[in-house]
Amino acid sequence: MPLDLSDLLAQHMPGHSLDRAFYTDPEIYAQDLETIFYREWQFAIPACQLTKTGAYARVQIGAYNVVLVRGADGEIRGFHNSCRHRGSVLCKAREGAVAKLTCPYHQWTYDLDGRLIWARDMGPDFDPSQHSLKPVHVRDLAGLIYICLAEDAPDFDSFADTARPYLAVHDLDRAKVAYQSSIIEKGNWKLVWENNRECYHCAGTHPALCRSFPLDPAVAGVSADGETPPQLQSHFDKCEAAGAPSRFVMAGYAGQYRLARMPLQERALSYTMDLQPASKRFLGRVSVPDAGTLLKFHYPSTWNHFLPDISLTFRVTPIGPQETEVTTTWLVDKDAVEGVDYDIQRLTEVWLATNDEDRQIVEDNQLGINSPAYTPGPYSPVMEDGVVQFVDWYVKTLQRGMGPRAVAAE
Ligand code: FES
Ligand code: FE
Repeated sequence: MPLDLSDLLAQHMPGHSLDRAFYTDPEIYAQDLETIFYREWQFAIPACQLTKTGAYARVQIGAYNVVLVRGADGEIRGFHNSCRHRGSVLCKAREGAVAKLTCPYHQWTYDLDGRLIWARDMGPDFDPSQHSLKPVHVRDLAGLIYICLAEDAPDFDSFADTARPYLAVHDLDRAKVAYQSSIIEKGNWKLVWENNRECYHCAGTHPALCRSFPLDPAVAGVSADGETPPQLQSHFDKCEAAGAPSRFVMAGYAGQYRLARMPLQERALSYTMDLQPASKRFLGRVSVPDAGTLLKFHYPSTWNHFLPDISLTFRVTPIGPQETEVTTTWLVDKDAVEGVDYDIQRLTEVWLATNDEDRQIVEDNQLGINSPAYTPGPYSPVMEDGVVQFVDWYVKTLQRGMGPRAVAAE
């Protein structure tokens, strides 16, 4: 490898964007996959996406192809989407429903729990129990399905225990998918995240979102000094008094995740053009109409918004060094009726526009970085402390994953 990644990491100037190679180089991209995406817990889908027994969804993470399927016992399991005969993929569609998992090549057939139940002409010594599908770690966190590709998954409980009470009031077990969109952004996955972690760009980029989403850096960023402004504290107090956990928490290795219920702009109740709820029938039990949005991020795969009326999940999936998929899912109460309680266009227009605007600026960012003239520039200490925090998490996580030499160079 022409680049010494440990040296590059050690040379990173805190408070500045990364060296060009981190956004462009295929070897560093491969290292990102190995060290981060193949090891960390990642959000995959909302559990309600798999409504019935046999419903499945495929998730591609780097070279891994995973199928999540709801079993006859109601449990969602994850398997590597690779037949134990000669390796063919089992499920080709992005999502679907099956009675059993049947390989298209020679029809080996697996039960929904991964057991091989049928394989033709394999001889008397063949033991089907040795050829179950390979499982992937799966956890259901209050209706959000997380997966981990590592053989030995890192701890999930400390994150789950912290997040569960915040999520519980949103009743995601009562949710249904109203709409889902997947877009490809021609930019490195870290640029997608950097853009997400600041609202320095919002005023100039997001006319629809800015009706409801505040530009206050404390909302998109972090409370760097640990101080909570009095009006924010009173918002937390009001929501918590009504039973909705709200106060700011950031934890995990180098701040891997954050939860905070942030107010929206004055008079805004949801992410709609008229600022009124996006669904008449509310998903969850947050009784304060202007509770705002529970912001949750968990690196490297997801940021989310949970509002009194609807919930939104976002998944970030790297496709290549300069290509990232962003999947957005709009969740409403399962009894909400389309055309009566909510309207798809009204429900989705703000974030569809916002996602597309973000795609454009991320792609422009990538194009500029691709020039040999690019050198790392300074982040705004006022508006971009969230980006500083993300980059710091990335550098530390890569150094930790690469072993003692890199850590010693820190
Ligand atoms: Fe699946 Fe042969 S590869 S049955
Ligand atoms: Fe944006």
